[in-house]
Amino acid sequence: MESQELRRRFLEFFSAQGGPATGGKHTIVPSSSLVPDDASVLLTTAGMQQFKPYYTGEADPMSSPHQTLGGKFLGSRNAVSIQKSFRTSDIDSVGDETHLTFFEMLGNFSFGGYFKEEAIRLAHEFLKEIGLKIQYVTVFGGDKEVPRDEESKKFWSELGVKDIREEGREDNFWGPTGAEGPCGPTTELYINNTEVWNIVFNEYYCSKDKKLRKLEKPGVDTGMGLERLAMVVQGKKNIFETDLFMSIFSSIIEIIGDKPIEKLRVIADHLRASIFLIGDGIRPSNKEAGYILRRLIRRAMLNHYKYIGAGLDSKFYLSPAEEIIRIYGKVPDYNNLREEKSVILEVLQKETDRFSKTLEKGLTEFQKLLSREKNKKKYAVRWPPKNLRKKSAYTINAISPKEAFDLYQSYGFPLELINELLAEHALFIDREEFDEEFRKHQEISRAGKERKFGGHGLLLDTGELKAANEEELKVVTRLHTATHLLQAALRKVLGESVHQAGSDITPERTRFDFTFDRKLTDEEVRQIEFLVNEAIRQNLDMGYKEMPFQEAVALGALYSPREKYPDVVKVYSARNPETGDVFSRELCGGPHVQHTREVGGFRIGKQEAVSAGVRRIRGHLLKTS
Ligand code: ALA
Repeated sequence: MESQELRRRFLEFFSAQGGPATGGKHTIVPSSSLVPDDASVLLTTAGMQQFKPYYTGEADPMSSPHQTLGGKFLGSRNAVSIQKSFRTSDIDSVGDETHLTFFEMLGNFSFGGYFKEEAIRLAHEFLKEIGLKIQYVTVFGGDKEVPRDEESKKFWSELGVKDIREEGREDNFWGPTGAEGPCGPTTELYINNTEVWNIVFNEYYCSKDKKLRKLEKPGVDTGMGLERLAMVVQGKKNIFETDLFMSIFSSIIEIIGDKPIEKLRVIADHLRASIFLIGDGIRPSNKEAGYILRRLIRRAMLNHYKYIGAGLDSKFYLSPAEEIIRIYGKVPDYNNLREEKSVILEVLQKETDRFSKTLEKGLTEFQKLLSREKNKKKYAVRWPPKNLRKKSAYTINAISPKEAFDLYQSYGFPLELINELLAEHALFIDREEFDEEFRKHQEISRAGKERKFGGHGLLLDTGELKAANEEELKVVTRLHTATHLLQAALRKVLGESVHQAGSDITPERTRFDFTFDRKLTDEEVRQIEFLVNEAIRQNLDMGYKEMPFQEAVALGALYSPREKYPDVVKVYSARNPETGDVFSRELCGGPHVQHTREVGGFRIGKQEAVSAGVRRIRGHLLKTS
């Protein structure tokens, strides 16, 4: 039975089930977007997400308009759907027999219509109808807070299921999606040792402080992965051998020649997931869902490199991507893929083109490092990670954390990518050790010491920049350019509401004030530093043009609203000479370096609040040897 048939049978079965006693027939509800309404989660991870308000009583299925039904009511206490879902938590397991990032979740739901007995009966009946036999089920075994699920045990055994296993909180209790939400004990169905279906009995509401309170009306939330169902129905050993993936692999093999498909699993999963994410409006970026997308594309490319070899040409992705859009675009819920096809392909191509240059250069360097004779003796990177490690266990020579850091500095290889490359050699670099290298680099020359600047004796004092001699002038000029890059990076990571609210540059540091209302997270700081250092590495041209103030503003050049500008202003742009892309554009009197590589390297130091809505960060140049 092909997967399209399984989708159809599932919807048909449930839409025919239910009556007055159980809350009505199941209304077929289309998949909601992968970008959820629920702001507490980045992406849609489960079918129940679009129904959350029905469990809590905030909305009523009989009278509240439902978004994916175009504002109509469910008109029943029961619903059925096939939901596009995405789980970052499984990203590292992708490539095994049963894990994916993106998958389709078949689910039936009840909001006060039926409960355990009917939910169990329906699941049992559906599987029987498509010719499957349950191997065993698990039920919640009980703990201090929530009692053992005796009822489910009873219902299963009445249906003739003999193998009923009890499990604890970790396995058989479904927690809320996001910070809080409906939750409760579960019963899971296994076939061929594969968990195919999870049935959740939403009896509780789990609040942010992890306290459980009873919901007024208990509900049912179920989820069955289409890919796993197809795997057991089609008698395959893993999800990648199902009809859902075969034509994707064929389209890859057509380009690269015959390869074992195990090696192509991650590429197929990540490409499929990326296409769905782009189709739902996500674009590669350095934050939130955009970063997840970026990471998927980069990981796919890295796998391409590892298993297929060089030639990271974006054309490689085009025909598999077209195949994915062709097969999924046929499913009515995913029509958007067909409609958005040209946009999806363009986004994919741009992102792959962009990363492939970095990747190729960095990979060459990585291979060089790994094959260096001196590395075999000198450096020890230990496996497994520190927390699992016993003293002196498993010492293997590889590249040092310092070299990993240099790869990051020079080629923009994030540690996670380096570790994926190293994983092939069963190696690993600790985050801690890597961060330590970062810190070491960040120790800038303290030789300059704190210098008190009076009004005179200064070679340069623009109000913003101060330098006492030629040497200091060079340093503050570099810091000044870094400050422009910093502002651009802040806006890319934190959003366009960020504006300069003051700046002060001495040979020791740049001090930059900007509009923003909270402390930056470590991850944000890391991303901002990365963007600035990436702009430095790309050796952008730092040139200026004189033009009327109004024209500069119309061009989108940043300026400080508190400052008075002359009628004709200088506009400095940091521009990629090859692509013409402008990274930063600001009204400014200078001075600046000519090419961003002269800045050397940059790191962010202390952060503090200046006033409500204004933050201050300090930035330093990295010591260059
Ligand atoms: N919400 C449940 C799950 O995702 C059904 O497993």
